[in-house]
Amino acid sequence: MSSDQAPRSAWPGADPVARVAELRTELARLGHAYYVLDTPLVPDADYDALFRELQALEAARPELRTADSPTQRVGGAPLPQFTPVRHAAPMLSIQTETDTTPQGAIAFDQRVRNKLALGADEAPVTYNAELKFDGLAINLRYEHGTLVQAATRGDGETGEDVTQNVRTIRSVPLRLHTDHPPAVLEVRGEVLMKRADFERYNKRQRANGLPTLVNPRNGAAGSIRQLDPAIAAQRPLAFYAYGWGEIVGWAHQPDTHHAMLDALAAMGLPVAEQRVHGPGAPTLIAFHARIAKERDSLPFDIDGVVYKVDSLVLQAELGFRNREPVWAVAHKYPAQERSTRVLAIDIQVGRTGKLTPVAKLEPVFVGGVTVTNATLHNEDEVRRKDVRVGDTVVVRRAGDVIPEVVSVLIEQRPADAGAAFDLDRQLCGHCPVCGSAIVREAGEADWRCTGGLFCAAQRKQAILHYASRRAMDIEGLGEKLVEQLVDGGIVNVLPDLYRLGLLKLATLDRMADKSATNLLEALQSSRFTTLPRFVYALGIRHVGEATAKELARHFGSLDALMDASLEQLQAVPDVGPVVAQSIRTFFDQPHNREVVEQLCACGVHWDESVPAEAAARKPLAGQTFVLTGTLPTMGRDEAKASIEAAGGKVVGSVSKKTDYVVAGAEAGSKLAKARELGVQVIDQRGLLALLGIKGDPDT
Ligand code: IVH
Repeated sequence: MSSDQAPRSAWPGADPVARVAELRTELARLGHAYYVLDTPLVPDADYDALFRELQALEAARPELRTADSPTQRVGGAPLPQFTPVRHAAPMLSIQTETDTTPQGAIAFDQRVRNKLALGADEAPVTYNAELKFDGLAINLRYEHGTLVQAATRGDGETGEDVTQNVRTIRSVPLRLHTDHPPAVLEVRGEVLMKRADFERYNKRQRANGLPTLVNPRNGAAGSIRQLDPAIAAQRPLAFYAYGWGEIVGWAHQPDTHHAMLDALAAMGLPVAEQRVHGPGAPTLIAFHARIAKERDSLPFDIDGVVYKVDSLVLQAELGFRNREPVWAVAHKYPAQERSTRVLAIDIQVGRTGKLTPVAKLEPVFVGGVTVTNATLHNEDEVRRKDVRVGDTVVVRRAGDVIPEVVSVLIEQRPADAGAAFDLDRQLCGHCPVCGSAIVREAGEADWRCTGGLFCAAQRKQAILHYASRRAMDIEGLGEKLVEQLVDGGIVNVLPDLYRLGLLKLATLDRMADKSATNLLEALQSSRFTTLPRFVYALGIRHVGEATAKELARHFGSLDALMDASLEQLQAVPDVGPVVAQSIRTFFDQPHNREVVEQLCACGVHWDESVPAEAAARKPLAGQTFVLTGTLPTMGRDEAKASIEAAGGKVVGSVSKKTDYVVAGAEAGSKLAKARELGVQVIDQRGLLALLGIKGDPDT
């Protein structure tokens, strides 16, 4: 279908002006659901079709093209330099305290009360607590609802015009979702890169031998300051609003900070859901403690939390001191980057034989834990960063991500630092574990051990992967135990696991009867599994959890998958030539087929009676769930897996499209949002009832 014919044939006689407007509204609605609410409403292909239709209409009638059209997110030529922008209202900073005890919040509350001359017996002040984002401050200027300019903070008075780059951020609305926009509304917030996007970007860069981003914050700042918007568009950025600048002509403007943020969210701006408002210092202390716990599982890095007086009238009364608001303060958490010394560079052997250089470090406390090892990813990365034994390096640990060496503090390199890193020379061409030859194929970033399952390191990793929570979920089969089982020659291939008996296990170090019995029980219950889990557990290179799910859904049975041709494999979503080849190679090896057969002979099985087409008839098909708080007996992963197994979908945030919010103890803002939107709220028992499982009456 040629693009200039599409709209005419699809809409014979339709008014293109009306259709363009309709398409823009619809694309904005779908984009907001996808990028801001994390709740896709239609398949990607449907979105793409509407997008192409709009592109074609605009190509045929260029006069219909407007700056706020979703087709204009990446537009414009590279700039020679950024234009300075004088801020209509200065972008000030905020007092930041590293005090992480409750005393900080109490002292802030006291300062506020003193300044407002409130006596001890007078009512508590209402505060708003929110996240301190770790990115780059940006001012978005909307005039009559259209984004007209985006600027960096600069020195607070004058920033730089980065409109072209900010337009590429999908979650930033190009038009506000309101029929009555203020004449001027400046929205302030932070541009950042989510951890998963940062990891994915760096992984791709590493695989292609290209430079990586140092950390998400630098990634965000560097992308926004790219003169070429096409490059900025390739960097996955996000935006979260936390405040505002100039406002003109906003009828019924809210009079509290939290209501302002609610209003911004209602206009389509991303506002993080982690925020609360309530009376006095206890509100702030509770939020600080909650976020300290949740910090690692947030999708992005934060610096700390920010406390603000909620009432805008009181904010005005409190005013500013030293260009910092008296009505706000930031409390930081311990840094996620620290410097330390490299004691050695070891090489670890992974599940697929991949050799990873790892820096052995002088212990350092980073992001709440003591770190002694940090990954260096691959040989090229070590060379690019020029990490040497004896160097002082910056180590970063954020979220659940493996700690990594970010950079070398070159001016601190001692005279007796080690030589430049050379993996092949260090290993003299042999795997450090099994002595097999090592190879680095052309176009590959990694060296590999060729020993396969002959290599004990690969065998151990394969077993640990098989037993991992998202694979066969065999509790109690940890690193120490696997080490003993493999080194003792007790487990050589996966099926050996199911041949373990109490007697054998009891001979092992530190293995009490109770843990041996528990392990045997865990092995027993792992025998009944699902096809996606089993496929994932096999540890086929390039087949992660999501691909395993797609493969299982597509082929329906293991036999069909094992016999699929390269072409048939490539018909599966997300399976390209490399993945297809890897699957084919795996099943072409007789010993792999034998492992599969033996596992099945040992009683590993799953239900194949639910083919793909039947999925639509599952009890929760088409229903969307949000989980919040702690459920009495079900873990979050377990609840998610049960819902998905019944055909339902679990998403991160509550919207009108959410069917159920499953709330447990200490449910937070998601519960409030559900109530606000009238979404049905159920507890664990309600969920079990939907799943057709009778709950324990006590839970
Ligand atoms: S309020 C007048 N709230 O921290 C007060 N700032 O020192 C304006 N930041 O670079 C700031 N998260 O971009 C505020 N929830 C939040 C924030 C936040 C991050 C950044 C801000 C600025 C710095 C202020």
